[in-house]
Amino acid sequence: MVKVVFKKEGADDRVVEGDEGMSVMETALNGNIGEILADCGGALSCATCHVYVAEEWQDRVGKPDDEEEAMLEMAVDPDDRSRLSCQIKLCQELDGVEIILPKSQL
Ligand code: FES
Repeated sequence: MVKVVFKKEGADDRVVEGDEGMSVMETALNGNIGEILADCGGALSCATCHVYVAEEWQDRVGKPDDEEEAMLEMAVDPDDRSRLSCQIKLCQELDGVEIILPKSQL
């Protein structure tokens, strides 16, 4: 299992475990992380699974590809830390990854 730590300003961290190969988005839905809407179900066409990757994890998580980068422009308040969580696949190297939830996906 791979632990994902969901962080939100002013709230306690929430830790959800997922299987290797699952996406961070699927892990969030399983863990009832309501900030992740994931309207398109992971088809890279909604941007409502937008998250920020904590700075110390960015190298391991990696950067978005061109298609994801284009979709990130639809997200609310994207910045250099932004990723679409449906495109981040869990692996042992990401055990404990810290994901910062945005204030809004709407
Ligand atoms: Fe729609 Fe990630 S769930 S882009």
